[in-house]
Amino acid sequence: MKHLTAFFLFFSALAFAADRPSPLLTNVPGRTTISLTGAWHVVIDPYESGLHARYYENATPETRSGPIEYNFEASETLNVPGDWNTQKERLFFYEGPVWYKRWFSYKQREHTRLFVYFGAANYFTRVYLNGKPLGEHEGGFTSFNFEVTGEVKDGDNFLVVEVNNARRADGVPGLNTDWWNYGGLTRDVLLVEVPETFVRDYSIQLAKGSLGEVAGWAQLDGSPHAQTVTIEIPEAGVRKTFSPDANGRAEFRFPAKLGLWSPENPRLYDVVISAGADAVHDSIGFRTVEVKGTQIVLNGKPIFLRGMSMHEEAPIRGGRAFSQEDAQTLLGWAKELGCNFVRLTHYPHNENEIRLADRLGLLVWSEIPVYWDIAWKNPATFANAEAQLSEMIARDRNRAAVIFWSLSNETPVDPGRLTFLQKLAEDARQLDPTRLITSAMNHVTEAGPDRRILDDPLGESLDVLGLNEYLGWYFGRPEDADRFQWESKYSKPLILSEFGGDALFGKHGDAGARWTEEYQANLYVHQLGMIRKIPGFAGLSPWVLMDFHSPRRPLPGIQDYYNRKGLVSNTGQHKQAFYVLQKFYQEIREARATH
Ligand code: GCU
Repeated sequence: MKHLTAFFLFFSALAFAADRPSPLLTNVPGRTTISLTGAWHVVIDPYESGLHARYYENATPETRSGPIEYNFEASETLNVPGDWNTQKERLFFYEGPVWYKRWFSYKQREHTRLFVYFGAANYFTRVYLNGKPLGEHEGGFTSFNFEVTGEVKDGDNFLVVEVNNARRADGVPGLNTDWWNYGGLTRDVLLVEVPETFVRDYSIQLAKGSLGEVAGWAQLDGSPHAQTVTIEIPEAGVRKTFSPDANGRAEFRFPAKLGLWSPENPRLYDVVISAGADAVHDSIGFRTVEVKGTQIVLNGKPIFLRGMSMHEEAPIRGGRAFSQEDAQTLLGWAKELGCNFVRLTHYPHNENEIRLADRLGLLVWSEIPVYWDIAWKNPATFANAEAQLSEMIARDRNRAAVIFWSLSNETPVDPGRLTFLQKLAEDARQLDPTRLITSAMNHVTEAGPDRRILDDPLGESLDVLGLNEYLGWYFGRPEDADRFQWESKYSKPLILSEFGGDALFGKHGDAGARWTEEYQANLYVHQLGMIRKIPGFAGLSPWVLMDFHSPRRPLPGIQDYYNRKGLVSNTGQHKQAFYVLQKFYQEIREARATH
């Protein structure tokens, strides 16, 4: 074991920093961005011959002699952002490479730098500018960018991007998931123009455990030594200037009178971070979150999490969600349920959702796709998971709504896995000491016919425990919940991160008939009765807000490649269980309001 740990530490340190472009904040007012959304010409490349055939050259008879067996201009198009599976019926099941090509014209302005930014691309991506490689990225749900200052030509330029969603045994996630493997340029593609020296990254929050002090840092990129960094919060009368160190990093801490962000009052402040010619504005909420015994404490007060788990799947039209409208609909349903919390599964969701959660007052659980079984002993797999973790944290570290970083979901108890996740927990705390580290676990010990103990060794490394249980669906009957006891080996807050059952909207029968709305509603009634009895219970996020596509669910006439555990159908109809949970959350709110 000792050697394994050493092996991991060596490799992770190497990989952690080495080959990945550091995060670039784009979705903040004050950044000049040029959107490259819209129709891109594509070549579908089922046998991965594009690299050898040099599709990235976007060659034409004028630019290359000999037979050219592709022609982007004459090829079909796909919309960006968007997955290809729901844009072309014949690509619904397609897993493999697709080559995208797009022209853009640009004129570099003096004293500026230019980056190409991708909100996300699933899964493995290679990017080329004017036929030259810019770099590659692995992971389908986090943003990445490449600097093209000096590479871009004045006038016409072309980008060629190979996106390959083929699943990999050494990937994160691995070969097996219960969600659709949507491929493509699934989020925005932007050109981001910044001054020669710019604010590349920052963290501005209340200092840990303090309601009256702001602490954080700003990282400059460019020739920092000439600059000072100014932090302004105009509504709070704050204007402070700091000098960055030789590496362009300015650390700060100062007192400030700020209205606290909470689900009841999601107060956001306009915050301006400026240095030299650069100034970015961001909407930031200020709150503290910590654990006291088995309670989760927000701004010094215990909070109960009325939650819902959800996938990043577009309501009604289907496919990978990405737009403000998608986020409005999905989080709107969560608010309608009476939620103050959403578990965004099983991968980092798009920034539109996170920023809307900030505005709506929905606390967020954000997770990396270390899902079920992956190649725990493979250092490259670890480096990949570590990079996805740091990219997730980098993008959303200033979002008050996000209180949990989740490292994994339903992973098997074994030594390699434990070392892997313990190391990730350390990384997460190093990257962000202000938030709570969690994971969704389903390993429990049977302590009698109706008693289960959550004793997964991973619990040691977590601040908050997530428990997934499917009593009444994958085992037992809904009524069994009435006498079931769930306990935890740890005196830490416990969240029931998943429970539920499938129901086809409009399918009716008696409560014992599977797949009916009555069965699902009945299951919820008994589950909600059961969970009131769980010691250290801090909240729940039942599985799942909306029916979603899954390759593991072919049952004709009922599932048809949908996981039907949604409380809302994929076309937006509310099932009976939606109202069972809504009523429960109403009661909880009223009960807590009177205490
Ligand atoms: C698991 C898993 C989900 C899955 C769900 C189900 O617990 O975490 O991703 O969809 O169960 O079986 O419906």
